[in-house]
Amino acid sequence: MSEQTIVDLVPGPVLAHPGTTAEQVADRPPRLEVREILTPADAKAFTALLLKELPSHYDEVDATFPESILNNARNGQDPFGYFTLSKDVYTTYVDGQLAGFTVVTMKRGGSAKIGPTAVLPEFRRTGIASALRDIVERKLYEGLGVRKLYMTVSASNVPALLFNLDRGFKIEGILRGQYRPDQDEFVLGAFNPARPTAVEAAETRYEVEAARGRWNDAIGSTAALWTDPDVEELRAFLSPRLEDSFDQLDIGFYQAIIDACRESRQTYHQKGKRLLAARTDGVLSAVAVYVPKRGGGAKLSPCVADNADAARALIAEALELAASEGRRKIYIHVPDARFDMVALLVSLGFAIEAQLREAYRPGTNIIVLGRLVP
Ligand SMILES: CC(C)(COP(=O)(O)OP(=O)(O)OC[C@H]1O[C@@H](n2cnc3c(N)ncnc32)[C@H](O)[C@@H]1OP(=O)(O)O)[C@@H](O)C(=O)NCCC(=O)NCCS
Repeated sequence: MSEQTIVDLVPGPVLAHPGTTAEQVADRPPRLEVREILTPADAKAFTALLLKELPSHYDEVDATFPESILNNARNGQDPFGYFTLSKDVYTTYVDGQLAGFTVVTMKRGGSAKIGPTAVLPEFRRTGIASALRDIVERKLYEGLGVRKLYMTVSASNVPALLFNLDRGFKIEGILRGQYRPDQDEFVLGAFNPARPTAVEAAETRYEVEAARGRWNDAIGSTAALWTDPDVEELRAFLSPRLEDSFDQLDIGFYQAIIDACRESRQTYHQKGKRLLAARTDGVLSAVAVYVPKRGGGAKLSPCVADNADAARALIAEALELAASEGRRKIYIHVPDARFDMVALLVSLGFAIEAQLREAYRPGTNIIVLGRLVP
């Protein structure tokens, strides 16, 4: 990670520390600094602010959450991520005191998750979050060529929602009971202004009739945990089935899935990723990566199947696994080109909750489908 990367000066009184006198401001105009490196004291202030603000919106946010963010940021990579490549923490200071932060998670396929963003209560509505995010977003778009930014914001967090809508983010869906029962979560996305979105994604038509019957009618599939996957076998199956909807899937992606699924991983964030596979007549016909999430959900992504029977067996196995672990909800990411899978999931009781515009690849939207675990 680089040293202090950006320093910005913001007009005086806006950023004066509460209690600062007019003489002091005139004497030493307050400055907003944005840094990408944390001293131990900053890390402590970051942790304190995060743990003060997030638990009111999210379950299972304990000290392991900021700790894992800081570890990823220090290491320059997420050792357990497969779509995630790395995390960075940007902090902002007013007269040397940490006043706010934003976290950035770089993803495969040219997108980045931005947030959480938080500012100390005494500094809110003074433009600090706007100034910080202006700087960070400019760096991501112009410096790093990020294609898309996205985030989730709890539906009850009106200030954060208005703040991000005001910045040009658009609502892409609402995830039901995503991180806490009875609390929904908006997905918001924005695109690099210099890289317009793809025409084909904007014009996608969902042809339900065409999706029906596209699958072969093989029957007799069985699904189970895939406990001893070989990276080449996994890649040989997934790679051709994902290439039209996900970018940047090198061998590191498949290896990261296998590493993340190892049983020996102990802590909350690291444990429990699993591979599920279905076979039809003994031949591999469906694969999903099962990822437990904070707040009680479990994600299946990627999730691909060659026939409807294999898909049904795979989903039944995933629901059973989720129920056995006390998970509340399962949600699945399906590229919109696979509308046959979307239609099948709807017939299995899943509801469409969001359309993530060009999430992992230009030209391909991702449909998010969710259902409660029985
Ligand atoms: C969301 C948050 C980061 C905004 O920080 P901030 O420094 O107060 O934001 P800014 O002063 O730059 O606000 C910019 C614009 O956002 C909108 N906005 C911000 N807070 C708002 C609020 N409470 N109500 C309505 N609009 C708001 C306004 O349009 C505002 O412009 P204005 O002040 O000229 O009306 C801050 O409220 C916060 O830290 N919240 C707690 C942490 C949190 O929940 N983060 C999100 C987790 S995902």
